[in-house]
Amino acid sequence: MAEIGKDIRIARSFLVKGELVGIPTETVYGLAGNALNEKAVLSIFETKNRPAFDPLIIHTDSVEKALNFVTEFPEPAQKLAAAFWPGPLTLLLPKKQNVPDLVTSGLDTVAVRIPRHPVLLELLSQLDFPLAAPSANPFGYISPTTATHVDAQLGNRIPYILDGGECEVGIESTIVGFDGGEVIVYRLGGLAIQYIEEIVGEVKVTATSSSNPKAPGMLKSHYAPRVPLQMLEKSDIQDVNADSKGYLLFNSYLRNVNRKYQRVLSEKGDLREAAHNLFAYLRELDALPVNSIIAEWVPMQGLGLAINDRLKRASVQE
Ligand code: TXA
Ligand code: MG
Repeated sequence: MAEIGKDIRIARSFLVKGELVGIPTETVYGLAGNALNEKAVLSIFETKNRPAFDPLIIHTDSVEKALNFVTEFPEPAQKLAAAFWPGPLTLLLPKKQNVPDLVTSGLDTVAVRIPRHPVLLELLSQLDFPLAAPSANPFGYISPTTATHVDAQLGNRIPYILDGGECEVGIESTIVGFDGGEVIVYRLGGLAIQYIEEIVGEVKVTATSSSNPKAPGMLKSHYAPRVPLQMLEKSDIQDVNADSKGYLLFNSYLRNVNRKYQRVLSEKGDLREAAHNLFAYLRELDALPVNSIIAEWVPMQGLGLAINDRLKRASVQE
């Protein structure tokens, strides 16, 4: 099992040696390695069982450092970076040659993000390389939002997990790219679209329809629990035969079902709180003796779009 601790020096020493470390971010935990070290990057793919066609995000702690890895930083990207970095936003920018092709799966753009977690920012400030870090889950499974989640699945494959507590946002970063003058959202995430549009005007969203693996994180089946998951409206959930099922609900419990089998994302109906709880509650339900999970659609506004996107992908059977 990995050691779980709060020692930035230990995390740093493994990373400098080219080894992998579990890291906290404000979105989800990452499986981090030196993005400029091909061996480290290769072991990220191996450790996660991730196909090589699915590129990685690089994390750094300043725009100045990010500029070392991109050839262009178009104006809308600059505006978004100024408004939302550090934060749950990833920008796709034309890559410099110093970024290994392995990181970008051969694409000519690189995904860059400055995360908001104070412990990670401190670690990044002590490194002279960026960290490539996908979510720290086996490919296709629910993303981790605590150090314990990481340990449960990857603990026997990495030496250290830097513990930064529960992830505040709880859902991965929003991924944004640029094409000519157009701003395109490739993955719905922890930064709601309305805030992006306040800065750059109307954006195009290709996230929900795409199953093209070249587009960000957008394989159809992803974030999936062990048992099948089905999405329903609340009104239809009442009619389901409750035997051996777990329920992921938005803001209220079902009366006819034992509470042990229910998780309510936010009793006050707050979508931020719902996003924060989403993956942890899915894991809890998945660990119960159930043979399927029923999830309620949450309201289609703000972070609700990203929550429904994750649940929908979790419901797809491969
Ligand atoms: O919040 C997050 O973004 C978390 C934390 C750890 O930072 N990271 C994360 O990484 O969600 P990952 O690898 O699970 O998802 C990153 C997605 C991938 O699905 C990948 O397809 C997409 O970003 N991506 C990376 N580079 C890309 C590129 N150059 N063009 C298009 N998509 C890219
Ligand atoms: Mg992921």
